[in-house]
Amino acid sequence: MLPDKASAFLLASVPLLANANLLQPIGYIPSDAQIRLSPPKSLFSWQDTPANESLVYHECFGAFHCAKLQVPLDWNAEEGTDNRTVEIALIKVPATVPVTDSRYGGAVVLNPGGPGGSGVNLVLKEGKHTQTIVSAGPDADNDTARYFDIISFDPRGVNNTRPNLQCFPDFIERLAFEKEMLAYGAPGSSNTAFTNLWTLVRTLADSCSKKAIESGIGEHMSTTTVARDIVEIFERHGQWREQEAKRLTNSKSVKDLPNHVKYRPGEEMIQYWGFSYGTVLGATLADMYPDLVKRVILDGVVDSFDYYEGGWTTNLQDTDMEIAKFAEYCWMGGPDNCALYDKDGPAFIAQRFSEITQKLMHSPIGVPGTDEYGADLATYTDLKMQFWSTAYRPLRKFHALAETMAQLEKGNGTALVQARRGMSSQLKLGLPEQCAKDGPYSDACNPLYDGESSSLISAAVLCSDAKSQIDMTKEEFWDYVQDLMKQSKMMGDVWTTIRMHCTQWHARPKWPYTGHLNATTHHPILFIGNTVDNVTPIRNAHKMSEGFHGSVVLHQDTEGHCSSSGVSFCTARAIRTYFQTGELPKKGTVCSPERLPLDGYSEEDEPALPEGETDKALWEAMVGVNK
Ligand SMILES: *[C@@H]1O[C@H](CO)[C@@H](O)[C@H](O)[C@H]1NC(C)=O
Ligand SMILES: *[C@@H]1O[C@H](CO)[C@@H](O)[C@H](O)[C@H]1NC(C)=O
Ligand SMILES: *[C@@H]1O[C@H](CO)[C@@H](O)[C@H](O)[C@H]1NC(C)=O
Ligand SMILES: *[C@@H]1O[C@H](CO)[C@@H](O)[C@H](O)[C@H]1NC(C)=O
Ligand SMILES: *[C@@H]1O[C@H](CO)[C@@H](O)[C@H](O)[C@H]1NC(C)=O
Ligand SMILES: *[C@@H]1O[C@H](CO)[C@@H](O)[C@H](O)[C@H]1NC(C)=O
Repeated sequence: MLPDKASAFLLASVPLLANANLLQPIGYIPSDAQIRLSPPKSLFSWQDTPANESLVYHECFGAFHCAKLQVPLDWNAEEGTDNRTVEIALIKVPATVPVTDSRYGGAVVLNPGGPGGSGVNLVLKEGKHTQTIVSAGPDADNDTARYFDIISFDPRGVNNTRPNLQCFPDFIERLAFEKEMLAYGAPGSSNTAFTNLWTLVRTLADSCSKKAIESGIGEHMSTTTVARDIVEIFERHGQWREQEAKRLTNSKSVKDLPNHVKYRPGEEMIQYWGFSYGTVLGATLADMYPDLVKRVILDGVVDSFDYYEGGWTTNLQDTDMEIAKFAEYCWMGGPDNCALYDKDGPAFIAQRFSEITQKLMHSPIGVPGTDEYGADLATYTDLKMQFWSTAYRPLRKFHALAETMAQLEKGNGTALVQARRGMSSQLKLGLPEQCAKDGPYSDACNPLYDGESSSLISAAVLCSDAKSQIDMTKEEFWDYVQDLMKQSKMMGDVWTTIRMHCTQWHARPKWPYTGHLNATTHHPILFIGNTVDNVTPIRNAHKMSEGFHGSVVLHQDTEGHCSSSGVSFCTARAIRTYFQTGELPKKGTVCSPERLPLDGYSEEDEPALPEGETDKALWEAMVGVNK
């Protein structure tokens, strides 16, 4: 698990990712431990793997299969006018049964959100757990059990997919930019901060979007294009499945193969689970190709109408409710589990939370230097950032937030600064030798710098998805900052930096989305929302569900972003049932979690299987994706 992000400021610009832990925002520095412990270089390298129009798999990263799929840069280019291509990095957890087994259920494609999140990274971290959740459990009937491949990919511009987007000459320059940005403070903190950020972010967006256009990728990163890429992945998967069956059975002819493995050109059905921004992608996909929808789960649901307007106004309505929830769980958890515990009850805890915040706003706390670190300053912006990263994963992270708050109350900013810069010892290590030798874009510098895997990829997608370039004066934008701060005192102003990019993002998509986000899909969609979600309030799930015939909203009674922020057998079983049989939960289903924040569930220990439950593998998978 990655430590909290040092650079969380720009996290806000990669807003809609399933788990804030998964992303590397600008200036992300891996901990020295990660560098030292990184496994010996495997034989697989994306760079040395040729792209192919078919799925040609190579063993990679241990038990995974990787392929580089070649697709047209421009799906709508007329024959012979534009032969440029995109090489999509794709990764698979192979199903536990061969394709010829009648229990083989096909592929489920995941998208982690972002936009700009790396699907390769998601599968490396969670793919096996996800496979356990969707595949048949121990009690499954042999006739109906289904076992799935799990596939994801780095979308256009992202991480291992080529071409990617690069807006800084190297890692150090990117880091310097990040530091500068952080130093100004959140845009709502002062007029000076706002003015500096407004100018800096727009200058970056201006030059970066021009680079994106020059390199050709800028106009071909829209969500419609990625939706079409997913259809292609299923088509090529069908072709691969047939080849694989021929290989396994030594068949000379396709005629000899069982029907369920035969490739059906143009009719390969989609199975998809999208998180956060991945719900925009999924809703778009379902609207564009409704007849191909076999299973689609949209989890942590974005208001795609607002998204395509470029509004960014329907994300933060419930964010600050997490403070009240924190106080409640802190009180229930008791002094052993919550450092900010107060015997007088949750109202007092919330009051202290507010006082600590207020005080820090006006008086930052100096943190003396140590043998390891230089002198530093714990600021209100730092606290917002820790809250921000915590809000995605309360079950895991309220504990550390309580510690930070209790220390701040005593005038000690050490924990807060540590949360920001826990990884900065890496700087002392310097760059790995090979990285310095091969240059900043080489594999050796991975994971130091792998293209703009963060906020600018995000901007490239979401700004070009907005129906037009956002045209706002500085004064109008300041009003927008004030409006969002009314929605969320904690996150409102930081959130506005997303849209700020779009006021100077010049790349426009060749293939814009023109649909209505509604469809009668071949099979109904399952939406999932949490009671309190910091970036995708559950009302969005209900709103989006209205457009998709027969769809159902599953309500998970937890806090945080996407269902994986909680651990609930009820939710996991509903998801499994949906993938196994297609059956949707009853309308109005509310799933309770097994564990609550600050009940002693910790980041370190493996939480025990709840009493009365027997499916240990499923529990471990739920805990695994919650990390
Ligand atoms: C794609 O893969 C197939 C099967 O391995 C191979 O025959 C073909 O030459 C490859 N095409 C390219 C362009 O590499
Ligand atoms: C693409 O087209 C250009 C000329 O239009 C040609 O020079 C080039 O070889 C083509 N590339 C491929 C991969 O076909
Ligand atoms: C990019 O992919 C590599 C695997 O090829 C992974 O280790 C790395 O974490 C990914 N980077 C990001 C930013 O997700
Ligand atoms: C289920 O089917 C598999 C393969 O078709 C077989 O090996 C296994 O013994 C069966 N299990 C049961 C419980 O019938
Ligand atoms: C602040 O807290 C840290 C532990 O995080 C502790 O080591 C340090 O001594 C404290 N500083 C003061 C001035 O109390
Ligand atoms: C989707 O919405 C549009 C505009 O409101 C409407 O014209 C169309 O009939 C709807 N389509 C479906 C499949 O519901």
